[in-house]
Order: sequence, then C-alpha cells, then structure tokens
Amino acid sequence: MGKKIRKVVFPVGGLGTRFLPATKSMPKEMLPVVDKPLIHYAFEEACAAGIEQFIFVTGRNKHPINDHFDHVYELQKVLSSRNKQKELGLTSDWLPPAGNVSFVRQQEPMGLGHAVWCARHLVGDEPFAVILADDMVLAKKPCMQQMTEAYGKVPGSNLLAVMDIPKKDTGSYGIIDMDKSGSKSGKLVKAKGLVEKPAPEKAPSTLSIIGRYILQPDIFKILDKQKPGAGGEIQLTDAINQMVSSKDVYGYRFDGVRYDCGGLVGFVAANVAYALERKEIKGAVMDELKQVFKRSGAKA
Ligand code: G1P
Repeated sequence: MGKKIRKVVFPVGGLGTRFLPATKSMPKEMLPVVDKPLIHYAFEEACAAGIEQFIFVTGRNKHPINDHFDHVYELQKVLSSRNKQKELGLTSDWLPPAGNVSFVRQQEPMGLGHAVWCARHLVGDEPFAVILADDMVLAKKPCMQQMTEAYGKVPGSNLLAVMDIPKKDTGSYGIIDMDKSGSKSGKLVKAKGLVEKPAPEKAPSTLSIIGRYILQPDIFKILDKQKPGAGGEIQLTDAINQMVSSKDVYGYRFDGVRYDCGGLVGFVAANVAYALERKEIKGAVMDELKQVFKRSGAKA
C-alpha cells in the first residue's frame, strides 16, 4: 500500500515545436533556465524527494539527454588538468550511481498517457512519480518532496499537483471535478473525476493539474486499453479518471510558483525568476532588467 516512492518517470519524447528553431536539433528538455537544463531541475526535484531511480521516456533526437546523465571524459580531463575543481564538480558530482538511470523509447509521440505506459516494465508493480520537466515549480520545499510527504498521509492513493487557473484557460489543462463531501481539509482535494482540456463552459472547476503525479501501478492496466482522447492523444488524465472508482485520487495544492516552460512567455519568466534566486547574480540581473525596461519604454 504505502510503499516509498523510489522511481520517477520523465516523459521527454515531445517534439518541442513551440521552441523551433531552438529545438530543431536539441531536445526542449535541454533548454537552459539560467545555467541548468530543464531536465536537470526535474532530476534535482526527484532527488530531493528521496527518489533513486530515474526512467526517461525518450524519442528521436533526444541523445543529449542521455549524454547529460553520463561522464564527459574529454572535458573532465581538461578541467582536471587545469585544476578547475568547481567546474569539474558541476559536470559529474551529481550523477546518480551507475544503473539507476534508464531510458526507454517511445517510438511515436502518441500522448502523455502513452509515454507513461512505455515505462511500465521499468516501473513494475509499485507506486511511482511522474515529473514533466517543462512545468517548473519554484518553491522553498521542492514540489515533489511536498507531494511524497503528503502521500504519507494518503498511502495507496494517486496524487496530482494542482493549482487554480483562470477559467478561460481550462482548455490547456487536465481539470479536476472535486468531490466536496470527501475532501480532506487543507491541501488535499479529493477528486470524483478528471477531464482533459475541457472548454471553459464544460470545465467542472478551475483546479488544474500541473506536471507532478504520484500514481499507483494499476494505471498501466488501464493505459493498456486507453483510447485516444483530447487532441487525438492517449491522455494520462483519462486513465487516472478511470481509476477514481477503484483507488482514491487527490489533487494536492502545492506551495510554490509554477512556470509553464512549455511556452515562450513562461520560459522567459522562469529565466528571470530563477536568476533572481541566485545571490551571486541577483543584483546585477536586477540592474540589467531595469535598464532593459527603461530602454523598451515599459514600466516595471
Ligand atoms: C499535460 C497534461 C495535462 C496537464 C498539463 C500540465 O498537458 O495532459 O493534464 O494539465 O500537462 O502542464 P500538455 O501541457 O502536455 O498538453
């Protein structure tokens, strides 16, 4: 029932077309926010939650992600010969033990549900986490750590990170139909259903899923048979919706600010926000931004 969450699935097979031409030959998950790729933040968040096994569901053109989680001998040799210890550490101090990183291919981008299903043999029969690298959450306590702690209170259930969004935006998210009678007090919200990308007039609420999940392995049996849903894709939300009758599904209102790095505006905002979190550059970045605003005529 309440087993520890040891494994995380990172679906990284998406095409990243919103970032063309940057993503023509580079995976979108390797786009840097300040000086770390998106996928590196997702990896650090999983580590902070005590997760030890990292499963990447990749596709064509995603080799730089594999390489990121390996040694880079030529560079390390040069850095070492120049006694650049700090830089050397940045290349590899954080690498997980050999054997704890796996890659599985999603041959065709058929949706998030299909991507997660591709990890079924590597996950096996235990609860697991899913992190979407292009949803960044800036928080004092990393979002997935908040979730694994909350999971301790509702072991054996499914937990989805949620936040309120403007009603006009429901068509971009999985939306929770809240079971008000069964709601847990505080941050946990019991779901009686889920809908993927409903039009605002059809949305059961404005409580939307963002890219952090703790799921029971039962999801794979459902995904085995899951038919395409919104956008003609096999949707994870639809499969979780089918689990509502057999296993509890909770939305978890996380603490923190989410940046949608799946789009240009969120990505630029994340770069600014994460730069301002860095003490060594904060002052200089603020000065530069003031100048930029002044030159552009915008009022900050
Ligand atoms: C996916 C999920 C959706 C969720 C969203 C969060 O959609 O299908 O339920 O709300 O991530 O970012 P996507 O953004 O991949 O279209």
